[in-house]
Amino acid sequence: MLMKTQILTTSKEDIEKAGRIIKDGGLVAFPTETVYGLGADALNEKAVRSIFEAKGRPSDNPLIVHIAKKEDIIPLVKEVTPKAQALIDAFFPAPLTVILKKSELVPSVTSGGLDTVAVRMPENETARALIEASGCVIAAPSANTSGLPSPTKAKHVIDDMSGKIDAIIDGGDCKFGVESTVITLAGEVPTILRPGAITKEMIEAVIGRVELSPAVLSQLGKNETAASPGMKYKHYSPKAKIVLVDAEKRVYEDFVNARENAFALCFEGDAVTTPHLTYGKENDALGQARELFDRLRQLDEKGAKKVYARIPSADGVGMAVYNRLIRAAAFNIIDLRKPFTLGVTGQTGSGKGYICERLEALGFKIISADYYSREITKKNSPIFPALQARFGEDIVKDGELDRKLLAEKAFKSREDTDALNAIMHPAIIKLCKEAAEGLCALDAPQLFEADMQGDCYKVITVTAPEDVRLKRIIARDGLTKEQALSRINAQHGEKYYTDKSDCVIINDGNNDIDIQIQSILEEIL
Ligand code: TXA
Ligand code: MG
Repeated sequence: MLMKTQILTTSKEDIEKAGRIIKDGGLVAFPTETVYGLGADALNEKAVRSIFEAKGRPSDNPLIVHIAKKEDIIPLVKEVTPKAQALIDAFFPAPLTVILKKSELVPSVTSGGLDTVAVRMPENETARALIEASGCVIAAPSANTSGLPSPTKAKHVIDDMSGKIDAIIDGGDCKFGVESTVITLAGEVPTILRPGAITKEMIEAVIGRVELSPAVLSQLGKNETAASPGMKYKHYSPKAKIVLVDAEKRVYEDFVNARENAFALCFEGDAVTTPHLTYGKENDALGQARELFDRLRQLDEKGAKKVYARIPSADGVGMAVYNRLIRAAAFNIIDLRKPFTLGVTGQTGSGKGYICERLEALGFKIISADYYSREITKKNSPIFPALQARFGEDIVKDGELDRKLLAEKAFKSREDTDALNAIMHPAIIKLCKEAAEGLCALDAPQLFEADMQGDCYKVITVTAPEDVRLKRIIARDGLTKEQALSRINAQHGEKYYTDKSDCVIINDGNNDIDIQIQSILEEIL
């Protein structure tokens, strides 16, 4: 059933009008310094129920009770504990919500059936004037449809709530743009249930050690109960699928610019050429907070399907930004802080080189372990004495390594191969890591033997049937069939590689490599 929603201003008359609506059991959306709230008389059960209806909010998710004066908390709670009092004195009015054991006065619909109540005194003048005008304490969740990003502009509220509530007070853009910090003082240790503009550090400076609920930074397990019921619901989610990319500026830029059809949510000043929106500047958490929800809404307006968002720093107020964004992304993170984005490995003759050429065309920097293994075996290399000690003086002549002879000796048995690796790998790994920058793929036949999988975000194994590999290496390296076979037999079997890798590309000459690569990138990145 649709009703007419009045759009009001912040004038005295309009606030009085809105106050009367609340007093009479109606619903009014109003600005606060955090986000817009959807308010009703907190002590009127019927009015409170209609908040849940208008938002489509699950009834076990409790509401925050908003007060206009500090002392108005007293009748709502069993006891204002000393720590609660200290926080009230230090911060109220502020973007801070305290949870205490509730009094009989607070109806169970308001507290979502819990024996505690959340109370906050907003800093925003219009919000406090409305509470005063209504003569009530006002229960108000964010004024969005449940599950969507919280509204930070009157337009957002109009989009979500028109026809469902009595009035909306247009108070312009919200100052902070993320919801209040929620801290519970109802348990043994004060615990932050939701980070906001009042940071953990600011709170600790007043009341000493506080904990951060595990639900703030990580996904709750299936059987864990949320200390704050709101944490268990899907939140801040636009329709677009968001993936957080944990990477420095340069890597992030390469990454999004290399993807077709990708949409980016980045910082001002990022050199991004794909369609994008920005949310603040890299080192400005307050600016990011102010813009984030609006941008999440705009993503849908722009029809973005898959969005790669640059990860914010989680320090200070950044914790609140990170917390909202990681929920919007349903905890999907791509970690590009590892030296190598992809590792590409596989048995000899599987055709890793070709896969790497295709990746290079897609914008990856290719780092070849073979290249560095030749670099460290150039004339008069400091590594020669160690090689000669193990494989014989004759593998070096006039300062030059006899590669063929070394290969023959080293690939004769597993033991010989291991000995060669123990000498070569540390030096090669060092050079590969030094060369790593931006979006890159490590081409390393011995990726697992060198224990480098931990340095790669994902590892791809390239496979091909033995007869195909045999033909390839005979042609490529000018080997006899026996030499080629002995080289193949000195290596691990295919399963050794595929078991340890994240995905497999079949390169038998019949499969369309580009389609396989694209679908793998789609899946893992
Ligand atoms: O900044 C804000 O806090 C905004 C403005 C309008 O004041 N309000 C807001 O309300 O964000 P809402 O309902 O969207 O979020 C309140 C959060 C929810 O996650 C809820 O589960 C939690 O606070 N909460 C409320 N009462 C609680 C209680 N008694 N125990 C634990 N968590 C509670
Ligand atoms: Mg909310």
